[in-house]
Amino acid sequence: MLLNATQTQLMPFEYPWAWDEFKNLCKNHWLPQEISMASDIQQWKSNTTLTADEKHLIKKILSFFANTDVLVGDNIVMAIYRHLTNPEVRQYLCGQAFQESIHSWSYAHIVESLSMDQKEVFSEFKRFGTIKDKHDFQAAFLNGVMHPNFSTESLQGKKTFLENLCAYYIGMEGMQFYSAFVLLLNFKRRNLMVGAAEQLEYIVRDESLHCRFGTKLINQYIAEYPEAWIAEVKEAVRNNVSRVVELEDAFVADCLPRDVLGMSKEQFSRYIRYIADRRLESIGLEPLFGIEDTPFPWMNEIMDLPKEKNFFESRVTEYQASVSLDWN
Ligand SMILES: [Fe+2]
Ligand SMILES: [Fe+2]
Repeated sequence: MLLNATQTQLMPFEYPWAWDEFKNLCKNHWLPQEISMASDIQQWKSNTTLTADEKHLIKKILSFFANTDVLVGDNIVMAIYRHLTNPEVRQYLCGQAFQESIHSWSYAHIVESLSMDQKEVFSEFKRFGTIKDKHDFQAAFLNGVMHPNFSTESLQGKKTFLENLCAYYIGMEGMQFYSAFVLLLNFKRRNLMVGAAEQLEYIVRDESLHCRFGTKLINQYIAEYPEAWIAEVKEAVRNNVSRVVELEDAFVADCLPRDVLGMSKEQFSRYIRYIADRRLESIGLEPLFGIEDTPFPWMNEIMDLPKEKNFFESRVTEYQASVSLDWN
């Protein structure tokens, strides 16, 4: 059982897929400090390499990311871990929470390397604006489950918990990150901010796996507690996805007051709807927008983890070789 399990031993596994996902997650270990920011620093300081719009865009994205992984980590550690009592699922959640802290380190590493105003970047989510809207929408799902009186014993508790899983694994890790990923990764395609973008590539890879695990977890939850997956909850999940799409439209408009590096608001509007439809389908819900193709097919190469793409594997091998447990 996912909830209120009586079995505390890890093996034999009740959910071998959760164990497999945990092992996959562990293969992706990387650290931000391994990635050189030298050329990014040069480009950021130059008055001619990046335009004011491009710098505005980079700052906005970092302001969004700077606090978001903290929120995801909090949701795992302070909200859902207490209730998801199956041992192999918990094993995954521990690994995921660690990765979220690596992601936060990564954004701090970029902000520090570029000598950005740390207070400005890290407190944007508290101010009025599109980043605060995204943050507040998400934090509400955490607060409900984190409350000391919250319980999954009742049907209402099971429904609220399922909404949280969908809001975090589908709405947050599956949607809210993706416009910002594309916006920043596109710089690398122009040979700009390659250090920051390389870190983002690793994060995209991690997030793709988190989303895949979350999708399996949600489908397992639905199979075990079908009484919680009723029309009212399905409708709430679709409404939440629809709200994320609106929040993303506003965020992208904020990041892109004008087209930057060939990217337009219209492309992103189509992209987030394409992603939303795929996420809904992955948990057995009807798509909302009927968008079948992505305006950014190159993102699929990074996000869908094709086995033939070996840039990550080669770095992981290098990484594992480079840290031969030197205790000095
Ligand atoms: Fe993350
Ligand atoms: Fe994540």
